[in-house]
Amino acid sequence: MKILVTGGAGYIGSHTVIELVKAGHEAVILDNFSNSRPEVLKRLEKITGTAIRCYEADIRDREALEKVFSANSFDCCIHFAGLKAVGESVIKPWEYYDNNIGGTLVLLDVMRKHSCKNIIFSSSATVYGNPTTVPISEECPKGKCTNPYGQTKSMLEEILTDLHTADIKTNNPNCWNIVLLRYFNPIGAHKSGLIGEDPKGIPNNLMPYITQVAVGKLACLTVFGDDYDTPDGTGIRDYIHVVDLAKGHVKALSAIEKKCGVAVYNLGTGTGYSVLDIVHAFEKANSVTIPYKIGPRRPGDIAVCYSNPEKAARELGWVAENTIVDMCRDSWNWQKNNPDGF
Ligand code: NAD
Ligand code: UFG
Repeated sequence: MKILVTGGAGYIGSHTVIELVKAGHEAVILDNFSNSRPEVLKRLEKITGTAIRCYEADIRDREALEKVFSANSFDCCIHFAGLKAVGESVIKPWEYYDNNIGGTLVLLDVMRKHSCKNIIFSSSATVYGNPTTVPISEECPKGKCTNPYGQTKSMLEEILTDLHTADIKTNNPNCWNIVLLRYFNPIGAHKSGLIGEDPKGIPNNLMPYITQVAVGKLACLTVFGDDYDTPDGTGIRDYIHVVDLAKGHVKALSAIEKKCGVAVYNLGTGTGYSVLDIVHAFEKANSVTIPYKIGPRRPGDIAVCYSNPEKAARELGWVAENTIVDMCRDSWNWQKNNPDGF
């Protein structure tokens, strides 16, 4: 298949491009490099042995998208492009609604005009809000998102679903096929150490913070709260290796090929680890010490979040394979080889 990968220069997108090429697909990247660097393209070529075509463009730029879709006949779009920092979204809500929702609306409009109505969308476990039970399956009701970033993910799921419903109601023979992938917590990096997560400024997320402490760029990790109702008091999450996550997108193409309508899948491992579990796993896997201190809870954080990934196993034949040791080792391999990122 020929696939447009919006945001394909970013963390998850770049790893997905590799898996697409490995599986024999043609990937074309569209990215405005607002949170990534063109250098990633050279690294992708080195890993895949293929020059990946890339359009530098913004998904809000209708004219640019028209040109890209006129020059290519895409079978599917994997849509990663968007802003993703939870805290920043509270301070800059307009920018998040404009980029994530406004941009996606332009993309969808251009896609339908060019009769490309197959899309895999990067959603998030954040749409479940504060879950009432764990593990979280796709049938669990969506919860209240406490920040504009989460709202954009939840709203885009609804918008995409409405497009499909309208096709069914009007007996449109060319229906939208939509896969909503709800990611849990992606960490790790490609085994080559050539690509990985490259956050701008001080990292918000746990693993890049830990790797930057390990490499000496940051002095000490602050653990956000040790008074949650969990065995060691720190927050529990479902960390998933980014390469496993990337492979989930390749598997999701099979649902698109089967004309799935709207299909929702959790992409997680099904196992929860606490913040201190991760610190200790990282120390053990890499023989390094991570100085840490306990701080107050981070506003908006929940205690426990981990997936039931059985639906993706059953319907897509996808199961996460990497262990927490692999994730810690590969995160460190990327950071120590690229102390200043790309
Ligand atoms: P990332 O920031 O590394 O990648 C996003 C890419 O999109 C970047 O290369 C950026 O330059 C590009 N981009 C942003 N706005 C754009 C625009 N208007 N036009 C064109 N390109 C644009 O983020 P990521 O971690 O790879 O996340 C990819 C997707 O997955 C995002 O939609 C994110 O919300 C979602 N997601 C990420 C996580 C996570 O923890 N990383 C969890 C759940 C969901
Ligand atoms: N944490 C710390 N110290 C830090 C950073 C994080 O203790 O410096 C803790 C958090 O409190 C939380 C855990 O580490 O308990 C994980 O935090 P992250 O910020 O890495 O990840 P979140 O679970 O908060 O959120 C991430 C993405 C969201 C996405 C969500 C999906 O940032 O975009 O996973 O589950 F929606």
